[in-house]
Amino acid sequence: MGKLNIVILAAGQGTRMKSRRPKVLHALAGKPLLAHVIDTARCLKPAKIIVVYGHGGEQVPKALASDDLVWVEQAEQLGTGHAVEQAMAEVDDDSSLLILYGDVPLLQTATLAELVRLGAEGFGLLTVHLTNPAGYGRIVRDNHGAVMRIVEEKDASEAERSITEINSGIMCTSAKDMRDWLARLENTNAQQEYYLTDTIAMAVEAGIRVKTTHPEAEQEVAGINSRSQLAELERFYQLQLAEQLMAAGVTIIDPARLDIRGDVQIAADVTIDVNVILQGKVNIAAGASIGPSCVIIDSAIGEGAELLSNCVIENSSVGAGCQIGPFARLRPGVELSEKAKVGNFVEIKNSTIGKGSKVNHLSYVGDTTMGSGVNIGAGTITANYDGANKHPTVIEDNASTGANSVMVAPVTIEKAQPLALVQ
Ligand code: UD1
Ligand code: CA
Repeated sequence: MGKLNIVILAAGQGTRMKSRRPKVLHALAGKPLLAHVIDTARCLKPAKIIVVYGHGGEQVPKALASDDLVWVEQAEQLGTGHAVEQAMAEVDDDSSLLILYGDVPLLQTATLAELVRLGAEGFGLLTVHLTNPAGYGRIVRDNHGAVMRIVEEKDASEAERSITEINSGIMCTSAKDMRDWLARLENTNAQQEYYLTDTIAMAVEAGIRVKTTHPEAEQEVAGINSRSQLAELERFYQLQLAEQLMAAGVTIIDPARLDIRGDVQIAADVTIDVNVILQGKVNIAAGASIGPSCVIIDSAIGEGAELLSNCVIENSSVGAGCQIGPFARLRPGVELSEKAKVGNFVEIKNSTIGKGSKVNHLSYVGDTTMGSGVNIGAGTITANYDGANKHPTVIEDNASTGANSVMVAPVTIEKAQPLALVQ
């Protein structure tokens, strides 16, 4: 494959979102729409990615800044052709130019790779047949089926409006040719905009054959204009993720009630009950079971571990065979060794809990190093904060504490000292 430049259009306002936030920063599966597009673009290993931003000012480049991105401002939104033209100063003439959109988040790399292949041969255009094509630009073909031009709905005749093949807007062609065509665009149309789509007729006129390819699912080219469309695409995407997991051997009690917002690795024979949210980097080892309404953020769950309902686990690791919950909270920095037990209404923060140790009822454990075989009585509190500094608590192997104990740190609890109050 030759050299590739990618321009992503992300300057539009997104009026129908009714939001102060630029549309492309709204999240799908926990990640900004534009970040999905950028990540897919990166998979094609382009020489350059140029993002055209505008509405919302510097918010967009600020939110997604990265060394491999070039940002170009389109101060006034005068149309898709005008938007691409703003980027041309950054585009290399000896490359193919692929045009993507910041509000079309679910494109597959394979679909784009095929489009880039067609682009290198002349002109590649991604189109799709819709039962309801209303609102889209239509693909006008000649009697032999060759693409002639694109007509926007607002400029279309009645006959043209009955065409069901629509323009996704996504296209790829020679950067050098595109530069010439963009310079010749005019805005004498219903919307008085510079239409990128007018370049198709220019390519045809220059004797270039415009070849089309189609996505596997029409949702791949779906753009988001409203919160309702965002929710619809979110559900579609979540269902796809759930299908992939089930195909890999994960039991999902109800695929419509699982939300994945990040990069997850889930081994075979894991069971996930309803209303679970997995966020960030989550790793769940074989045979673990995740109860209903658990939230797991940036954490690892060990083999065969059992999370009962309503646990919230963040930035922590849960060893093999542990049992947690219901209603347990692991705050950042918790490491549970294998077969540890954390029961209901227990909060643990920044602590290591040794093998087989139990914190079963109504306790707070913070900044604590706990050995193995420890039993913590109901209602135990480590008072780790003196108002100015935090202090550590050490609980040695096989120690046990009585109910309602307060350990005022810094303190060390040795083996088998039943206690009501240690200071
Ligand atoms: C465009 C296409 C249409 C296609 C449809 C697919 C044109 C003229 N029409 O229509 O054929 O069926 O997309 O969704 O290209 N943008 C900018 N700057 C601008 C204008 C737009 O960055 O000045 C961005 C928008 O943020 C958006 C995208 O380009 O992401 C498409 O713009 P929009 O105005 O929605 O185009 P449509 O009228 O939907
Ligand atoms: Ca649109």
